[in-house]
Amino acid sequence: MIMRLENQCYAYPWAAWMFRSAIWLRMSCWVMEGDREVIGFGIAQRQLRWWHLMNVCIAANFRAMGLGKKMTVHLLSEARKQHAVYSWLEVRPNNRTAINLYRSLGFRSVTMRKNYYPSRRGRLPAIVMAKKLYRKQKPNIL
Ligand SMILES: CC(C)(COP(=O)(O)OP(=O)(O)OC[C@H]1O[C@@H](n2cnc3c(N)ncnc32)[C@H](O)[C@@H]1OP(=O)(O)O)[C@@H](O)C(=O)NCCC(=O)NCCS
Repeated sequence: MIMRLENQCYAYPWAAWMFRSAIWLRMSCWVMEGDREVIGFGIAQRQLRWWHLMNVCIAANFRAMGLGKKMTVHLLSEARKQHAVYSWLEVRPNNRTAINLYRSLGFRSVTMRKNYYPSRRGRLPAIVMAKKLYRKQKPNIL
């Protein structure tokens, strides 16, 4: 079911072994279920103080209903539980929806990664976006 969704969502999908490794490596893997089917999933991994959002995917007929944001917010709450301090992700420069989603949650573009994504016309760069997970606490002045 996950593979079917992955294949629907991406022109260059993850292979099944990548999902198996995500589970085997105990990454944070979450699934959203509809009445009879998987309608979305999210995968992230803690890397020291960083939380890498690796894959967020919502089935095409369930998009623009707030589910992608819900999944991303959930993954970020897991990051905080695991005491990560920053989160980062890669996104295709032409993936407007995903960029808007991440921007709306406070992610900002920090750099580009060359030759990251496969495409029909050679490899495309990735935009790397990042966000700090904790705001500085205001001092408690009595
Ligand atoms: C990216 C994806 C996860 C977004 O999921 P979604 O459920 O459609 O998104 P949401 O309904 O939660 O919308 C979240 C934000 O995305 C943006 N957005 C949603 N639909 C959009 C559209 N059609 N065009 C532009 N921006 C859009 C908006 O900023 C929205 O926030 P707002 O409603 O507060 O303004 C989904 O499109 C998807 O699975 N795409 C294929 C896989 C993919 O590209 N994943 C990201 C890899 S980095």
